[in-house]
Amino acid sequence: MTGTDTGVGKTLVACSLLRAFAARGMTAAGMKPVATGTAHGTTGDVEQLVAASNVTAPREEVNPYSFAPPIAPHIAAQQAGVRIELERIERAFHALAARAQVVVVEGIGGFNVPLGPGADTAQLAASLALPVVLVVGMRLGCLNHALLTAEAIAARGLELAGWVANHIDPDMVAATENVQALEQRIRAPLLARIAHATIPDPGLVASQLEVAHLMRLFAAKRDLHGDRRALNGRGRSVRTRAIKSARKRPI
Ligand SMILES: Nc1ncnc2c1ncn2[C@@H]1O[C@H](COP(=O)(O)OP(=O)(O)OP(=O)(O)O)[C@@H](O)[C@H]1O
Ligand SMILES: [Mg+2]
Repeated sequence: MTGTDTGVGKTLVACSLLRAFAARGMTAAGMKPVATGTAHGTTGDVEQLVAASNVTAPREEVNPYSFAPPIAPHIAAQQAGVRIELERIERAFHALAARAQVVVVEGIGGFNVPLGPGADTAQLAASLALPVVLVVGMRLGCLNHALLTAEAIAARGLELAGWVANHIDPDMVAATENVQALEQRIRAPLLARIAHATIPDPGLVASQLEVAHLMRLFAAKRDLHGDRRALNGRGRSVRTRAIKSARKRPI
């Protein structure tokens, strides 16, 4: 789960997806590999993802790296004297994937955020080789952010499984025309248009999400690879296939 920016609804959509998968009889676990701003008093991403999951897992699998300051992760890690290691995140993901049929992994910030020397979130996404869902925070400027993000996802050899138009700005002018502009340019299905709400309800959003496409995607991976490892996008062959198919397609 990635987004055009921080605060665009990744956690809302991740929690809604978890609920949608659970409603279809699947075991589903949320993961937030790196969290910052965890000392802010509000219910954090990790707590929300845990509440929306229908399997229990140790905190270190759900959230391997957690930093209190609400700042960029590589700076938070540097201040804490911690080096964020992609291998540790991969191990946590594999452990989680052994507990649940679907793991929804929420990134941090946008698609390409530094995590430390030689590591960023785009590399993290590529190392996990998962299909990507893009949440577009619908506001002025989002077309550029959304199209650049779709390009970056393709450039990393990842599959854009779908995107969500989240109306975070209730006063956006020409909102529908903006959604249409993205529909014409992003070669992946629009999974939902989420209306602005005073208090967003992940249960309601779950019922609005077009998850059939994602279910077909997962089923295809499972059939292709014959086990749950493939469903969770863990096999090298899945990654290779994603890279090949992404190279053939424009965004
Ligand atoms: N459609 C919406 N209508 C109203 N408020 C929304 C909507 N979508 C998200 N929000 C609110 O915007 C805030 C940010 O949403 P959310 O936490 O899901 O974003 P995020 O992309 O996960 O942010 P972060 O980068 O901090 O992880 C939350 O307070 C959430 O309730
Ligand atoms: Mg979040």
